[in-house]
Amino acid sequence: MRKEVVLVTGASGEMGQALIQRLSASGVRNILALDVRPLPDEIRKHCPYSITGDLLDDKLMDRLVSEFSIPRIFHLAALLSTRAEFTPEAAHRVNVDGTLGLLKLAVDQAMWLGQPVKFIFPSSIAVYGLPDLATKARAGAVREHEWNIPTTMYGCNKLYAEHLGRYYAHHYRQLAAERPQHTVDFRAIRFPGLISAFTVPSGGTSDYGPEMLHAAARGEPYACFVREDTTMPFMAMPDAIKALLMLEAAPQERLTTHAYNVTSFSLSAGDFRGEVLRAFPGAEITFVPDRRRQGIVDSWPVNQDDSRARQDWGWAPDYDLRRAFDEYLVPNIRERYTMPGA
Ligand code: SER
Repeated sequence: MRKEVVLVTGASGEMGQALIQRLSASGVRNILALDVRPLPDEIRKHCPYSITGDLLDDKLMDRLVSEFSIPRIFHLAALLSTRAEFTPEAAHRVNVDGTLGLLKLAVDQAMWLGQPVKFIFPSSIAVYGLPDLATKARAGAVREHEWNIPTTMYGCNKLYAEHLGRYYAHHYRQLAAERPQHTVDFRAIRFPGLISAFTVPSGGTSDYGPEMLHAAARGEPYACFVREDTTMPFMAMPDAIKALLMLEAAPQERLTTHAYNVTSFSLSAGDFRGEVLRAFPGAEITFVPDRRRQGIVDSWPVNQDDSRARQDWGWAPDYDLRRAFDEYLVPNIRERYTMPGA
C-alpha cells in the first residue's frame, strides 16, 4: 500500500519551515517534505518523509506517485521576484512547469483516491502591476480582479499558475467523452511581503523589510534598496500560515474565487525603519535605492483589499503592525541572535 502523506514543496524555504512546524504542532505526523535544498535539522525531525530533489525531475514525480497517496498538497516552491529577473526562463520552469507537473500529479492522485486533491498555493502581491506612482496612489487597496498586469516574471508566473489551478479544478479535459470525476480543489492566496522572526528571505523584492530588521538585531548596518516613501503591505509569518490553513479548511461552497487577497499592515520603508529603531535604537539604516528593484515595488499596490477573504472564510490577521513588532518579531529576533552560535 502507498503511504498517505501531506506533501509540502519548498519545504526548506521560509514559508515551508513555518508551515511544517505548525502542521506538526497540530498533530500532523505524515508530512512529506520536498525541496531542492536539504531540510534544516530542526525541520527534518517533524517530517517522517523527506526528499531532496527537483520538482522538474520526471523520475522523482513518478516516485511520488508510486510510493505515496497524496490527498493534500501545499505547493510552496518558487523562485521569488528579484531572483527570477536574473534567470527568467529558469524561473518559468520552476514556477510554471513545476506547478503544472504537480497539478498533473494531483489529478492522477484524485483518480486513485476517488476524491479531489486539496491543492493550496501561495500567490503574491506581485500579480498586480501599477503603471506609475500616481496610479499606485490613486488605486489604494486593490481588489483581486484589478490591475492584473504584472511587470515581473515571477508575477506573470504566479498569475498564470493561479489560472492553471482554476483550469485543473473546473475545466480539465473538458472535451473528453468521460471527464475525470474528481480533479483538484485548488485554492490560492495572494500574500503581501512576509516577515519571519526565524528566517531571512532570499531572492524577493519585499526583502528590504525583513533584511532591515534582522540586520539591526545582528548589530549590522543596512542600506535599504528602496526609497523611504516606498509603501507596500506586509504580514507576520504566523498570520501567513494561519491564512493557508484557514483557506484550506474553508467549506468549498463558501468560496467565490480561486485566488484571495490577504493583508495585515501597510507601511512605508521609512516607517519600517522607525519601527526597527524603536526596538534597536542604535541601528544604522540608510536608504540607497536600487533603481530597478525600486521599479518592481513601485508597481505593487500600497495595499490589498482582503474583504473577500474576510467575508467568505472569516479571514482576519492576528498581528497588526503593533503586535507584529512588539509580540512576535522583536522578542523572537532578539532571542534568536543572542543564542550561542546564532
Ligand atoms: N515576497 C515576494 C517577493 O518579493 C513577493 O511575493 O518576491
